[in-house]
Amino acid sequence: MALVDSKKMFEMAYKNGYAIGAFNVNNMEITQGIVAAIAEEKAPLILQISRGARSYASMSYLKAIIDVAVAENPDIPICMHLDHGDTFETCKQCVDDGFTSVMIDGSHHSFEDNIALTKQVVDYAHDHGVVVEAELGQLGGIEEDVVGISEEDVMNHLTDPDQAVEFVERTGVDSLAVAIGTSHGAYKFKTEPKLAFEVVEKIGEKLPGFPLVMHGSSSVLKEFKDLINKYGGAMPDAMGVPEEAITKASKMGVCKVNIDTDLRMAMTAKIRQVYAETPAEFDPRKYLGPAREAIKDMVKHKLQVLGCCGKAGECM
Ligand code: G3H
Ligand code: 13P
Ligand code: ZN
Repeated sequence: MALVDSKKMFEMAYKNGYAIGAFNVNNMEITQGIVAAIAEEKAPLILQISRGARSYASMSYLKAIIDVAVAENPDIPICMHLDHGDTFETCKQCVDDGFTSVMIDGSHHSFEDNIALTKQVVDYAHDHGVVVEAELGQLGGIEEDVVGISEEDVMNHLTDPDQAVEFVERTGVDSLAVAIGTSHGAYKFKTEPKLAFEVVEKIGEKLPGFPLVMHGSSSVLKEFKDLINKYGGAMPDAMGVPEEAITKASKMGVCKVNIDTDLRMAMTAKIRQVYAETPAEFDPRKYLGPAREAIKDMVKHKLQVLGCCGKAGECM
C-alpha cells in the first residue's frame, strides 16, 4: 500500500474513541523504532517531519527511509505529514515532495491572517489530494527557532470555540490543532498539570465529527527523566502531560496526538546509559541499536495510551 492521507484514520478514530499517534522522525533509527512498534501492534501511523528534520536529514533521505517502511508494511496505513509548516512555500514544497498531509501553523498571526494563509495552503493541497491541519490558539514551549508563549500565559491563549467554528468554515481545513494548555518540549508545567478539556468539549458540540489535534502531548515519564539525570544529563524539573489526560482527550474528538519529546528522552536515556556503563564503546551500532529498541518500546507504550492497537485494518 502507498502512503495514505489521514482522512480514514480520523474518521475511524473519532467514531471509535481513540487517537492516532503522530511521531516525529529525524533519522533511520527513529523511523525504524516507530515502525517496528506499529507493525507489532497493528496500529495506524502518522510519521511527521518538521522543518528542522528536513534540513537535518534532507527530504530525499527521509522519504527513501519512509518509502521502505511503507513497502515493508503493506497492511499498515502510514501517513507522511509536515509538522508546523510556517509558510505557503514550505507547505507547497512538501505537497510537491509527496507528503500526504501538511500542517500550516499560522497560530502566531492574527485571526484574519491565519485564515488567509491556511486557506491558501488548503486550496493548493486539496487540488493535489493532500489534507491540511491548521492551528488556532497558541502553545508554549520551544519549537524550531520559535519560542512559544510562557507557561503563565498559556491559559490566556487557549483556542476560542466560536473562532474555531468560523476558522474551519472559512478555510475548509481538514483538522485543527487546539491550544488547551499544552506546550512543546520537556518543561510543560511547573506545578500541577492543567488542561482545558472544556475547550475540547465545546468545540466537539459546535463541530461534531471534526477531528482535533493535540500538540505538545509528551508525558515526560519519570523513569526516563531519572535515567537521563542518573547518567549525567540535566533535566531536573521536566514535567509533561499525564497519560490519563491523553487517553481522555482521545475519547473526546482528539484524533491525532503529537509526540516527540518522549521519544527523544527514550533515545537519550539509552545512549547515556550505554556511554556510562561501557565507556570504552565507540561503535555507533552499540548505542544506536539499543536506542532504536528504546524508541520501539516507548511507541508501543504510547499506542496503548492512545487506544489504537489493532486498528490498522479499519483505517485502510
Ligand atoms: O513541534 C516540535 C517538534 O517537537 C519538532 O521539533 O522542530 O526541533 O524538529 P524540531
Ligand atoms: P512534545 O514536545 O510534547 O513531544 O510535542 C511534539 C509536538 O507537538 C510536535 O508537533
Ligand atoms: Zn507541535
